[in-house]
Amino acid sequence: MGKVYICDHPLIQHKLTYIRDENTTTKDFRELVDEVATLMAYEITRDIPLEKVQVKTPVTMAECRVISGRMLGLIPILRAGLGMVDGILKLVPAAKVGHIGLYRDPETLEPVEYYAKLPTDVLERELIVIDPMLATGGSANAAITALKKRGCTQMKLMCLIAAPEGVQAVQEAHPDVDLYVAAIDDHLNDHGYIVPGLGDAGDRLFGTK
Ligand code: URA
Repeated sequence: MGKVYICDHPLIQHKLTYIRDENTTTKDFRELVDEVATLMAYEITRDIPLEKVQVKTPVTMAECRVISGRMLGLIPILRAGLGMVDGILKLVPAAKVGHIGLYRDPETLEPVEYYAKLPTDVLERELIVIDPMLATGGSANAAITALKKRGCTQMKLMCLIAAPEGVQAVQEAHPDVDLYVAAIDDHLNDHGYIVPGLGDAGDRLFGTK
């Protein structure tokens, strides 16, 4: 079963409150999501391995540590996932970014991939799949499945807010994928919105509503 990490650092929770507020402007919403993404990147990278290196300081030789192992790949799900990419890149600027676009088939209601462009070395990278709102889990599950079909094996999922329904769906479909969220909310409403949530993340990020 994948683990669920709730990033409950006070700064994240403080900023999330203003992200939720319907009176927050598009500009402030975008900046706050960016800041929370940076803070969450600090949490999601907590377990990346280190290796020892020797460094000559102006005083003496020192045994120090640098990041080792796989490089990171960020996979935002279009379009709301884009809002968290730059914030993560502030901490891991060498990460490569792939994109996955999904739409919901109006008849089957299943997510359908319409776009995928991944780093050429995606199989060698540890991936962070990014979707601010984990509602039913349909999009996140489809994106993770799409990556696994291409041979990717190491993935984490990063969301701002999750509904319990989405958490359960991801845990059932992808028990090997750990989930990082700033909050798990109450439920999904009849329109598929997370309650209390923040509304439509894409619209609020891009000012399209
Ligand atoms: N997507 C959103 O942007 N908001 C929700 O509440 C659910 C899905």
